[in-house]
Amino acid sequence: MLTPGLEFSSNGHLYIEGCDIVALAQKYGTPLYVMNEKLIRNNCRRYTSFIAENFKTGSFPCYASKALSCLEIYRIMNEEKMGVDVVSGGELYTALKADFPAERIFFHGNNKTVDELRMAVEFGVGRIIVDNLTELHLLDKIASEAKSKQKIGLRIKPGIEAHTHDYIRTGQIDSKFGFSIENGEALEAVKEAMSCDNLELCQLHCHIGSQIFDTQPFVDAVKVMLDFFVIIHNETGQWIKELNLGGGLGASYTDADSPLEIEEYLTPVAQILKSTCKELDIPEPEFHIEPGRSIVGEAGTTLYTIGAIKDIKDIRTYISVDGGMADNIRYALYKAEYTVLNASKNSGTIKDNVTIAGKCCESGDLIQEGISLTEPDVGDILAVLTTGAYNYSMASNYNRIPRPAMIMVKDGNSRVVIQRESYADLLNNDI
Ligand code: LLP
Repeated sequence: MLTPGLEFSSNGHLYIEGCDIVALAQKYGTPLYVMNEKLIRNNCRRYTSFIAENFKTGSFPCYASKALSCLEIYRIMNEEKMGVDVVSGGELYTALKADFPAERIFFHGNNKTVDELRMAVEFGVGRIIVDNLTELHLLDKIASEAKSKQKIGLRIKPGIEAHTHDYIRTGQIDSKFGFSIENGEALEAVKEAMSCDNLELCQLHCHIGSQIFDTQPFVDAVKVMLDFFVIIHNETGQWIKELNLGGGLGASYTDADSPLEIEEYLTPVAQILKSTCKELDIPEPEFHIEPGRSIVGEAGTTLYTIGAIKDIKDIRTYISVDGGMADNIRYALYKAEYTVLNASKNSGTIKDNVTIAGKCCESGDLIQEGISLTEPDVGDILAVLTTGAYNYSMASNYNRIPRPAMIMVKDGNSRVVIQRESYADLLNNDI
């Protein structure tokens, strides 16, 4: 499987957007995160144009920046007229430093601190998505002190089961996020929010999970949420103006994955939204979603250099690379599958039963197990595909390993967007 923009060239090397990957590895060093800028922008345009054409005026997609947060990505999102979703003071700070307009920022989190909430109110963040009653009252007080009326959403658990990894499933009642509809706490929270003088309840939000390949859970979520809109109207006489469906559309990691196209996913959502509003006689709400993985996931490729090969007869072959769980923890954490290619060779003997091992002092530091590779040799460049989402953003300095650089490629050109950390950077906060 090759992600969009990747192809093998006649010199046997893997190319991305017209750039020779082996040459990129030589120029910038490895490990290296390579992002396909054209694909990112194209994905944004598909979301923005579909939503502009098929949903109520005022609707827009917000890029979920937990998938990949850095100055350049917020600049790109701004140029592409996206909103962004942030989940911490750090993401908010980065977005603001990139001059991202505060009114198009949605701020999430199940335990935002007083400082984070003050910062969000002070900079005029578009929506703060409130997770619990403690936060609701705290925010009301902070907005009152700032003499502002803060627009908010409420995070709702619609009770939808999406078939995805347990750790990234969030819509069910037993979740740390939000208010459940089924036990009445969501309605109580809505009434409470409406009674707060310094808050304006604009939006109900739900996020049912991540890496979802099916439209049905999203369609079900729309129906459950709109039914709840009616209950709220019956109880309070008010209509909620915005529906936010969160993120969740999957990306392709291996041949086994067949994610929906952006339009295939949004078409039934638009249809059910319109038909249900008509049927229930509800004013159509503005629509928001928060795609992360489906915007940047397949746009990312991580490059490593093979440092050592260990053949353990009748057991397996370990191929050690110069990165690992510090730059991609997803196999160690979720047993996440990836496509790994030898970017230096397109032909030769295929080696089976290969395990790609990282360089951390930990047996679980693996990138992938049981894969096949074309004639791997020490010094070859390996490409791990679909590493644009939740890789750099989940990276650490475990074993005091500096984080890799990130480059963007477009039309045969490359540029650094995040510098490689130096050993000196590792000491920045040490006293
Ligand atoms: N909105 C909210 C409120 C979310 O919690 C998330 C993801 C998103 C949007 C974006 O979802 P996406 O479109 O990317 O599926 N670290 C895990 C993924 C955790 C996702 C958490 N929330 C992984 O590596 O798979």
